[in-house]
Amino acid sequence: MSHAIDLAALPQDFRWGTATSAYQIEGAVAEDGRSPSIWDTFSHTPGKIDNDDHGDTACDHYHRWREDVALMGRLGVNSYRLSIAWPRVMPDGDGPVNPKGLDFYDELIDGLLAAGITPSVTLYHWDLPQALQDRGGWPERETAEHFAAYASVVAERLGDRVSHWTTLNEPLCSAWIGHLEGKMAPGLTDLTAAVRASYHLLLGHGLAAQAIRAVTSGAEVGIVNNLSTVFPASDSPEDQAAARRHDGHVNRWWLDPVHGRGFPADMREVYGVDLPERPGDLDIIAAPLDWLGLNYYFPATVADDPDGPVPHARSVRRPDVPRTGMDWEIDASGIETLLLRLTHEYGARKLYVTENGSAFPDTVGPDGTVDDPERRDYLVGHLAACASAARKGAPLAGYFAWSLLDNFEWAYGYAKRFGLVHVDYATQARTIKTSGHSYAEIVRAHGELGHGTA
Ligand code: FCB
Repeated sequence: MSHAIDLAALPQDFRWGTATSAYQIEGAVAEDGRSPSIWDTFSHTPGKIDNDDHGDTACDHYHRWREDVALMGRLGVNSYRLSIAWPRVMPDGDGPVNPKGLDFYDELIDGLLAAGITPSVTLYHWDLPQALQDRGGWPERETAEHFAAYASVVAERLGDRVSHWTTLNEPLCSAWIGHLEGKMAPGLTDLTAAVRASYHLLLGHGLAAQAIRAVTSGAEVGIVNNLSTVFPASDSPEDQAAARRHDGHVNRWWLDPVHGRGFPADMREVYGVDLPERPGDLDIIAAPLDWLGLNYYFPATVADDPDGPVPHARSVRRPDVPRTGMDWEIDASGIETLLLRLTHEYGARKLYVTENGSAFPDTVGPDGTVDDPERRDYLVGHLAACASAARKGAPLAGYFAWSLLDNFEWAYGYAKRFGLVHVDYATQARTIKTSGHSYAEIVRAHGELGHGTA
């Protein structure tokens, strides 16, 4: 399958990785001093998660990480994107550090390095300590300040071995899905809280970037956004305006401020909520980025929806298009479009695809193998589109497949499987899927080219 990908367009030192996040895989939620996060609270609230699943055990990665590092070795990847659980490191959100929490990540990082795998560390993948939520959470400025203090502690401990840092993963989900749509933790449906959360998340990003750079040398700091290509459902001016608003909501609101352009004026008007601005904040938010991370899953087609919730743009389900098990539309061209947009419109100097992948209902065959041709096709198609973007000038430096393992897929629980490796949750047995073997072949084929950017 790898022949479909223009591998020669990817630099020789390309980072081939897989990605996971703490709450989705670790389990051990009450071990070694970890405190509850907002996801423990949310997942244990009846009715919030399909099948009332939760992350109490998940993939038991906390105890099985050595096996998981060995799996990465078998995939042949040279990089791994993981996240640190804030409630393990600082159980109260601020204040005392829990040494055992840091020890876990310390050992994991050493294990990765010993296996020749470069860690890429995300500081916040949605698991805010519940103690901080109880004091108001992201709608409050102090959360951004505590985030920077936590970032400093982690960077100080791991910064001698980790240089690749992500402040936030997909702040859109924390703010819009967590505070406006209520479908993720903390489960609020409050526009003012959501807008304030979005502001403080980005402020926290800027403060954390400063904090990491203050205690390490040579850190490469970036932020990870989940962006979508956006299409109007028709040529009508109303639908076109709706597409512009949706683009503002999911893309520009998150990109413009970190690029020194401030918060988009049109969207400030759409939200109609005062931002909790203080002088100097915008400069903090626009801290120089060493790289930009793109998580890409699906495109959006939207129609005007004047009476619907902000941004008054309703997603339209297009018939007869291929979809994943998430019911997400498959459109590999979107990843190329977005990589080129980040290059041309935002002047990105270095880009990573920090997540991309697909869920399908995999089963283990009678011979013990897991054959997942749809996931393999999704992977190859999107990698081909990435390579095409690189060929056209996008400074793409790496690709992290979501995900290494099947895991706790947030509100969907364990029913949605994104892994290159299958997990049998009853036994915790791991099986590399066909897509994982294909990925290994692609990585190997790229390595065998043995040349720089063509
Ligand atoms: C992204 C999340 C990641 C995973 C994938 C499918 O939005 O960052 O944790 O759930 O979606």
